[in-house]
Amino acid sequence: MKKLLKVFQKEVFQAPPLWFMRQAGRYLPEYHEVRNQAKNFIDFCQTPSLAAEATLQPLRRFDLDGAIIFSDILIIPHALGQKVSFVTGEGPQLDALQTDLDLKKLSLNGLEKGVTPTLEALGRVRTALPPDKTLIGFAGAPWTVMSYMIEGRGSRTFDRVRQFSEAFPQGFQDLTDLVTNATTQYLLAQIEAGAEMIQIFESWAALCPESLREQAIFNPTAQIVRRLKEVYPHIPVIGFAKGVGEILPLYQKITGVDGLSLDPSIDISWAREALDLCPVLQGGLDPQVLLRGGPELDRDVRRYLEGFKDRPYIFNLGHGILPQTPIEHVQRVIEIVKEKGE
Ligand code: CP3
Repeated sequence: MKKLLKVFQKEVFQAPPLWFMRQAGRYLPEYHEVRNQAKNFIDFCQTPSLAAEATLQPLRRFDLDGAIIFSDILIIPHALGQKVSFVTGEGPQLDALQTDLDLKKLSLNGLEKGVTPTLEALGRVRTALPPDKTLIGFAGAPWTVMSYMIEGRGSRTFDRVRQFSEAFPQGFQDLTDLVTNATTQYLLAQIEAGAEMIQIFESWAALCPESLREQAIFNPTAQIVRRLKEVYPHIPVIGFAKGVGEILPLYQKITGVDGLSLDPSIDISWAREALDLCPVLQGGLDPQVLLRGGPELDRDVRRYLEGFKDRPYIFNLGHGILPQTPIEHVQRVIEIVKEKGE
């Protein structure tokens, strides 16, 4: 069995398996080369040969245990019929849903067409991937994806989502159901196409008002995990609920995810105790520390290795690699993690 998957069989490693969130991306010069072959970011994600190439690039350069399929969480709103564009330097922009009437523009009809290129890319990567590497599929969690759909872009406060949920309670539930269904079908299809592990990105978990938490985070994610487990009980699912701190034990228990990906704010000793019932923990290293490098980076990598040395753990960052990150810093982290196993 592959090292990354063995962790879910409770295996503990001196040198834990590792991969990085956003391991394919702008910090790699070869990424820019393939990126420039597409006319925009959506087309890039939806051209199987380019998406497969971007997925494999970090594994050619580094000794990583997993390849995460190259795509984006906003492919789902796009496939549901919403206009999505990526403006360089400004991030994603969507034609925001203003009222419940806008839900009429969305449907599951376009889902298959929208996700087929990603499924095809998964098939290509599966064929090209060395046998000891794990292929990772992913999707955004419904709350995070819906937040972009209603806000139209990243936001610091997400006031509009709350306003929408209050003004159109039924519309908000209908949207939740739509995105949850689409995400479930998409993830099942990814596993069918070759994904061996799934990560669900709830990047905006911290901005969900407590009054909406059950409806918008816990229930939809639990529903997705339950369905994946019904069909593919052996495929591990990791949840990345960023910035929710003390809620993590409850999030894990209610959603049934096999693993939690930790953000940099999570204290290691707290996690060891509070998350003792969570089968697998992953990540935590601050991407800013990776960016800066030096002795602080060495020390922090060793802190995570030491802190989680006696339990099933996957080494990763606490959020995605930043575009300005020097490649040598990434190389250095891998060196330290691997030397533990020698
Ligand atoms: O290597 C990998 O991790 C796989 C690819 C991947 C991308 N996006 C590629 C991407 C994954 C897993 C994502 C997930 C994603 N996308 C999340 C959840 C994880 C997180 O970072 O919180 C979110 C919130 C998004 C939405 C998104 N996509 C934003 C906010 C942006 C713009 C900000 C930025 O980093 O530029 C994107 C664009 C995006 N997605 C890029 C990449 C490599 C950069 C686009 C470019 O090349 O110009």
